[in-house]
Amino acid sequence: MASILTQLNDHFAQALEGQFPSYITLPTPLVVPASNPKFGDFQCNIALPLAKQLGQQPRAIAMEIVDKVNLTGICEPLTIAGPGFINLKLLPDYLGEQLIKLQQNQQLGVSLVKGKERIVVDFSSPNIAKEMHVGHLRSTIIGDCLARVLEFRGYDVLRLNHVGDWGTQFGMLITYLKEVYPEALVTADALDIGDLVTFYKQAKQRFDQDEQFREASRQAVVALQAGDAENIKAWQLLCEQSRQEFQLIYDCLDIAIEERGESFYNPFLPGVVELLQEKDLLVEDNGAQCVFLDGFTNKDGDRLPLIVQKSDGGYNYATTDLAALNYRLTTDGAEKIIYVTDAGQANHFAQFFQVAEKADILSDPSQVVHVPFGLVKGEDGKKLKTRAGDTIRLKDLLTEAVTRARQDLETRLTAEERQETEEFKTEVAQRVGIGAVKYADLSQNRTSDYVFSFDKMLALQGNTAPYMLYAYARIQSISREGGIDFAQMDSGEIMLTEPTELVLAKSLLQFADVIETVETSLLPNRLCDYLYELSKVFNRFYENCPVLKASDPQRRSRLLLCDLTARTLKLGLSLLGIPVLDRM
Ligand code: ARG
Repeated sequence: MASILTQLNDHFAQALEGQFPSYITLPTPLVVPASNPKFGDFQCNIALPLAKQLGQQPRAIAMEIVDKVNLTGICEPLTIAGPGFINLKLLPDYLGEQLIKLQQNQQLGVSLVKGKERIVVDFSSPNIAKEMHVGHLRSTIIGDCLARVLEFRGYDVLRLNHVGDWGTQFGMLITYLKEVYPEALVTADALDIGDLVTFYKQAKQRFDQDEQFREASRQAVVALQAGDAENIKAWQLLCEQSRQEFQLIYDCLDIAIEERGESFYNPFLPGVVELLQEKDLLVEDNGAQCVFLDGFTNKDGDRLPLIVQKSDGGYNYATTDLAALNYRLTTDGAEKIIYVTDAGQANHFAQFFQVAEKADILSDPSQVVHVPFGLVKGEDGKKLKTRAGDTIRLKDLLTEAVTRARQDLETRLTAEERQETEEFKTEVAQRVGIGAVKYADLSQNRTSDYVFSFDKMLALQGNTAPYMLYAYARIQSISREGGIDFAQMDSGEIMLTEPTELVLAKSLLQFADVIETVETSLLPNRLCDYLYELSKVFNRFYENCPVLKASDPQRRSRLLLCDLTARTLKLGLSLLGIPVLDRM
């Protein structure tokens, strides 16, 4: 089913085609939501730029358009305001019909893309033996949400974890591993480092203090790169330790992702440098191989280079990204690649995208998108830390969210004098706690920094996961109370008479357009804003319109509205990676 906005657009396009075909060259969209509900539901502002283009009176043009466009059965008679804005107000009967179509639509009006285009979402991507920090948590949550939305639209999404599992630091780590856990290399499953971050710090300390250790580390890197069995084994052990820690987080957040770390592209790195050589892009600078970039200059205005091979022959982060891009476009057959990282890496992406284009690895720059996000801050506005001033471990952070959700639940149960099973409490605390963390992140415009506050994210009021989950559970309680199985309800008619019913109907019918916006803007907060609005208008409807106490056919009609709201909330939240609860 086409969304209302699409239908209106089509009608206007048809009307304009014959009379004002040049409208197509204007950048203005034909129909947009009304800037103020008192003017109606939508408006068409095309008469103004069209008048300018044609050198005519805008009001006269608006009148001609109104004459021509046929919206009988959809809108009330069109009106013209001010210099030539055309206002549209939808008819309640039409809204009712559209809702019935929505109700019968599995996808709630969201259309499926025709070709099954492959899209790579590169997200999470922590570094082995280094800490998985809150930045990676953001990347994980945002990336997962974008992948879910694209999957729902029917794309063939490849979720890739570009783990930092290669580089010179492994020489140091391997050498330290051999020193402190020599048995690990010969005995299976003997290794349990526990805290890899501390391990990394200790290794670094040894490295900084001891020349012999440094030399051994250098040799280990060379041996590792040459494929020496013992060093490969040590490296694999380290990766496995990290993998286990990362997996705890992914399990807790319910994240599906395929690991394909930097090491995977290692065999292709010499080829990248050769290709750049062939394209005549390489310049040697102090023994390093560089590509000079346009638009990136130092303070003297000289162009800056991107180093693709260091003087010692080693490769860089960007070299691996060039190889990965080539692999994803050719072998994976990706049409589009989305990279979700902190905004601090914006330059890295702009630079390597530019080099990829120059080298003809990338022919269409719109195929790659960097999706940047801001920092996570503590309530003091500074970097997020524990009370003792240490960096927060993600596992602890998620555990605390669940613990606090549990406390809130216990308090509420006592106040409501409710008895619930241990199983119920565990499940509610888990879903509310994790859902709250995810929602708090996704509901912010990702480009800005956000303040991490357990109190705010767990609040039952406001733009929070608990508020949304509560609205959903409330609807399920209506079905329990009335003994109604929503799934078994056949459609019948939806009658919209009360103002709150009309507002709810219009909100429900916007879902598909919102999903489209999330897809084009890659901004999950658009979906959160919508779900928040929907929950609010539902609550207003529910306060104003009796549902179970009404009599048929109004009762049925209202029940259908309830069910559609619940389905929209459930689907919308699932696209954010948040499962609902029937009771909480
Ligand atoms: N490992 C990197 C980091 O922790 C993120 C990798 C992002 N993906 C990429 N293809 N560069 O910052």
